[in-house]
Amino acid sequence: MPRTIIVSNRLPTKVQRTPDGLTFQPSEGGLATGLGSIYRQEGNVWVGWPGLFLEDVTEEQYITEALRGDSMAPVFLTESEILDYYEGFSNSTLWPTFHYFPQFATYEPAHWAAYVAVNEKFCQAVLAQAGPEDTIWVHDYQLMLLPALLRAARPEATIGFFLHIPFPSYELLRVLPWRTELLLGLLGADLVGFHTFGYMRHFLSAVTHLLGHSTTNGMIETPTRTVLVDAFPMGIDYDRFVEAAASDEAIRHEAIYRQALSTSRIVLSIDRLDYTKGIAQRLLAFELLLLRYPEWVGQVSLIMVVVPSRDQVPQYASLKQEIDELVGRINAQFRTIGWNPIHYFYRSFPLEELASLYRLAEVALVTPMRDGMNLVAKEFIASKADGRGVLILSERAGAARELSDALLINPTDLVGHAEALHQALVMPEDEQAQRLDAMRALVKRYNVFSWTRLFMNQLTYSKMKQHTLATDFLSPAAIDRLVADYRAAPRRLLLLDYDGTLTGFHPDPQRAEPDFELRLLLRALADNPQNRVVVISGRDRTTLQKWLGDLPIDFIAEHGVWLRPPARSGSCSRP
Ligand code: UDP
Ligand code: G6P
Repeated sequence: MPRTIIVSNRLPTKVQRTPDGLTFQPSEGGLATGLGSIYRQEGNVWVGWPGLFLEDVTEEQYITEALRGDSMAPVFLTESEILDYYEGFSNSTLWPTFHYFPQFATYEPAHWAAYVAVNEKFCQAVLAQAGPEDTIWVHDYQLMLLPALLRAARPEATIGFFLHIPFPSYELLRVLPWRTELLLGLLGADLVGFHTFGYMRHFLSAVTHLLGHSTTNGMIETPTRTVLVDAFPMGIDYDRFVEAAASDEAIRHEAIYRQALSTSRIVLSIDRLDYTKGIAQRLLAFELLLLRYPEWVGQVSLIMVVVPSRDQVPQYASLKQEIDELVGRINAQFRTIGWNPIHYFYRSFPLEELASLYRLAEVALVTPMRDGMNLVAKEFIASKADGRGVLILSERAGAARELSDALLINPTDLVGHAEALHQALVMPEDEQAQRLDAMRALVKRYNVFSWTRLFMNQLTYSKMKQHTLATDFLSPAAIDRLVADYRAAPRRLLLLDYDGTLTGFHPDPQRAEPDFELRLLLRALADNPQNRVVVISGRDRTTLQKWLGDLPIDFIAEHGVWLRPPARSGSCSRP
């Protein structure tokens, strides 16, 4: 039975080396958590990096065996590949550029070379797993070259690609020295998916500008195939979050937290440590809230979970320092003996504890400067079964396109941000319920399963479309039959299209004139008394007359408006 091979840089399980040996933990990040619910179905396999480099060969065997039992096939990266491909090109070139932080981007040819090499390494790993009938689904910006590499190895394969981060405007993309290679890499897929129509539009515009391909209704015409492009806003495993939030464990944890905290008015934020997440701006907005509305001092606390991420990349290390200082300053300024303005956690939490935090919080602050989607926003909504809670959401997160009942803010507008916080804290309960209900219905309906289904249906449609539009080449047997029929026929009518058939297309149509060889061929055909040769064209009659008027052939010019039988050579007439 055909399976789906999921491919992403990071596996949903990360292996870590600890003093007690190797440990296996769930990975953080929207891609891993979002797809984690679907990859185990129907014998699927997930190919990706387990998150560490090997110290000896026995580790390779042990990890491969352990992950195989959970439908994962590891691709091991060396220390230098992690440095140049992962921290380098993926996270110091593509990530900042695609999130509109070009000032943080580096353009190192050595990083690009590693990116190419690791994409090739992934290609070999996928080919080792995928049978000819299997569907290959490649994910995210670390593997943008992989679709074309797989296509070269398996021209008939069914390949989908989904980008989990924003696709930037052409003006940003064009800064990259390797922009064309990246686009060509993606066009190896049959379907390229994005979270929003905006990202899709940017991609289509880049393809038109840089590659010159024409696009209609999300269909790109490459010289060899058509590629479909579409928007699929990713959802979450809604039921899993509803159940986790209603579990005894979440309720127990919530009670413990409530008892430990001196206030019940909790604002929550959860992100990976990332400059795209607007963490520093959020802290400043919270500080501004306390300055503008001193009545909240002692009353409201911010629980801020920051999950360690990419800490070897310089920008991430300096962001950590900035956040530590800001939290320290704000806490020192406002805290009282019994109350802490900010409870800051620099670590990750398991799902059950996240669920209790979602229960606990009255307000969720999801305020990235740029985010492909943001699943935390949807997880908070799913966890609020009692209809109480307010989501404050950045208009620059992909999720804002769907969650329009959130309080939408511009994260650089600190005053607007602080005012939204105040508005959330005083929002009447019926308004909270009304907004939450609308968003819950949406998050429930457009969950990760419907997302996968829609993507797979479009992938099938793209394949079908390719088959109907495909060029069917003449087989040797068909050519033999054609020649035999030609020879046997007492009279023959030869209807010949001009542009693209008798001559190739030319960027300047006036230069697609017939060459000596073509004129010789047409004359030879027309001089045979058994033949009647007709050239059909959308071109104007004057041009056809100029190019072919001296030959004893018919013309059908201007899309059938003008006819010229050979007997009346010299002019065209209306039919
Ligand atoms: N997450 C987690 N443990 C944590 C904090 C976050 O597993 O301690 C998960 C969270 O539940 C969410 C994901 O990490 O599913 C973050 O995804 P999101 O789309 O919000 O942002 P990304 O990290 O992909 O940029
Ligand atoms: C985002 C990206 C994912 C990535 C995740 C965690 O969600 O879209 O591709 O896996 O962040 O980042 P990391 O670098 O730790 O894999």
